[in-house]
Amino acid sequence: MGSARLIDGKAFAAGVVERVRDAADRLREACGLTPGLAVVIVGDDPASRLYVRNKGLRAQEAGFASFTHVLPADTDQATLDNLIAELNIDPAVHGILVQLPLPAHLDTTAVLSAIDPDKDVDGFHVVNAGRLAVGLPGLVPCTPLGCLMLLQAELGSLSGAEAVIVGRSNIVGKPMAQLLLGADCTVTVAHSRTRDLPGVCRRADILVAAVGRPEMIRGDWIKSGATVIDVGINRVPHSDPVLAAAGKTRVVGDVAFAEAIEVAGAITPVPGGVGPMTIACLLANTYSAACRRAGIVPDRI
Ligand code: GUN
Repeated sequence: MGSARLIDGKAFAAGVVERVRDAADRLREACGLTPGLAVVIVGDDPASRLYVRNKGLRAQEAGFASFTHVLPADTDQATLDNLIAELNIDPAVHGILVQLPLPAHLDTTAVLSAIDPDKDVDGFHVVNAGRLAVGLPGLVPCTPLGCLMLLQAELGSLSGAEAVIVGRSNIVGKPMAQLLLGADCTVTVAHSRTRDLPGVCRRADILVAAVGRPEMIRGDWIKSGATVIDVGINRVPHSDPVLAAAGKTRVVGDVAFAEAIEVAGAITPVPGGVGPMTIACLLANTYSAACRRAGIVPDRI
């Protein structure tokens, strides 16, 4: 059997949510301010609706005000722009999240650019990407922030570690690289055109998989004792052919988990690893956005 330690993101995220709730309680007592999160969804993709529902529920659990705006799939750009403009000036709203992907007729870049950077709790605005790149305080994308928290909890100092990130998306790969650089890692960002990807992965003390391809990273791509963070959430047919024929699915990561636990030192499972950290960090970002809006230094989460 495998020997890797399981990194329990679900338990860690529950701790983060609890700390955010306590910090938000102190903020309310100190200055009567309740952090508010507005979530906007366009269309009726069931998976997106479920994510959005969960975000709203978690925000309420943390004692936040939660505002959910569900717009029809044929919403035009001007209507969405107007809603963002209203949320930007709404004093009860400290964080704005527009659920992605948007329907194809809408301009995602324009929508994300329209959000006030200081309410951009997803950290997707170019101003926040720039702040992160030059080391200024700002709002950091939730998934890579959650990965960094798990890595620091697991390893303590990351200084000098060889980190390999597989995937170069704006949402995970690139901000993850900035965060790990900031934590003094030596960072390689690998992607679909990388030559000898298995060889590059084998160098990693820290391997972050964020490619969106089910079980692409095999056990023999992993250095013995490495810490593996699996960001992938891929729905695939059930492994039992009878259940698969009945349309049943299961969720797997970007890492071949059964192989990886034989070699890695520690690994995040899917589900129950990185996933729960994303919403926890969204709440942490909303709390810190509320504090900054009020001119208060946020408590450390
Ligand atoms: N869709 C999938 N993940 C995310 C996320 O983290 N933020 C937003 N806005 N949309 C998403």
